[in-house]
Amino acid sequence: MPRPTDAAKITRREALRRTVLFSTAALATSGRSFLRAAPVETKFDSGGLHLLALGDYGTHGDARQISVARAMSKFAKSLDQPLTAVLALGDNFYKPITPNRFQDHFEDMYSKDGLDCPFYACAGNHDYGPKYDPQEGKLQMQLDYAKNNPDSRWKFPAKWYTLELPSADKPLVKMIVLDGNFWEGALTPQEKIAQRRFFEAELKKKSDAPWLWVVNHFPIFSDGHGHGDNAALLREWGKLLQDYPVSLCLAGHDHIMQHVQVDDYHPSFIVSGAGGAALYKLNDKCRGYTNNSSLGFNHIHVTPEKLNVQFITSDGDCIHHFQRTPKGELTVKV
Ligand SMILES: [Fe+2]
Repeated sequence: MPRPTDAAKITRREALRRTVLFSTAALATSGRSFLRAAPVETKFDSGGLHLLALGDYGTHGDARQISVARAMSKFAKSLDQPLTAVLALGDNFYKPITPNRFQDHFEDMYSKDGLDCPFYACAGNHDYGPKYDPQEGKLQMQLDYAKNNPDSRWKFPAKWYTLELPSADKPLVKMIVLDGNFWEGALTPQEKIAQRRFFEAELKKKSDAPWLWVVNHFPIFSDGHGHGDNAALLREWGKLLQDYPVSLCLAGHDHIMQHVQVDDYHPSFIVSGAGGAALYKLNDKCRGYTNNSSLGFNHIHVTPEKLNVQFITSDGDCIHHFQRTPKGELTVKV
């Protein structure tokens, strides 16, 4: 596919500064990577929640992980309201987990100076052993650390769980956190059945939360080269995402930052996999906003009426920013 000229890309991006309703084609014209960045937005309506999300960050404390951690802390301190939570989207620890790693590569890495809030984790493929990393029991170590250290910000109550924020009695967001490790050696057949029952039951359960999100490590739709779309998860969860009012799907796994809207699907699909590991190349699908030029993380501000989702680089720039209503009205701001 021929690449559009820079002039054509600028025109297309400018054309996106308007409201669209489920306009997959319009979002796709936002291009694969940013031509220019905007300052991050830090002033929002009061009464909402502020969340950060990052994935694929557990690189043994290298410079890339440090740069994103520092950018998160700096951004959080620039907000005029406190952070509610960080969503840790998996591949939390590459390589074996040694006893000091929770302290060095989580507690100290993600400074309480700015990031003094719970980190809710899910399981990436590298969080299992030994197929992806030569250590048995890596995931259980992460579950155990949360259980044995209730004062820690590290929250990982189970392989799959429900999270209601700010509280279960008055939720603004209901998140269903899942384990998408369907490969041989990870979830057992019995666990897959149990998780499926849990997922359906949680989707059916009546909730006062205006927002319903699904969180797991693996994107169902991705333009990252090497992984791409996940046929197993599409088979397993695709119909449920169409049948229930899920508005946001958050994942990592591909080391890119991406926002796509997919025909016949209600949710906005976010990939936030640029938290520290080496970035991936892209495939040639170009279905939405996709960036593989920068490490970074997501900021999400939630009110009952509106989501603001910012894609923020380790340099502190905003490279994509969209708003969305529960019904799916979408406005691309950057
Ligand atoms: Fe992964």
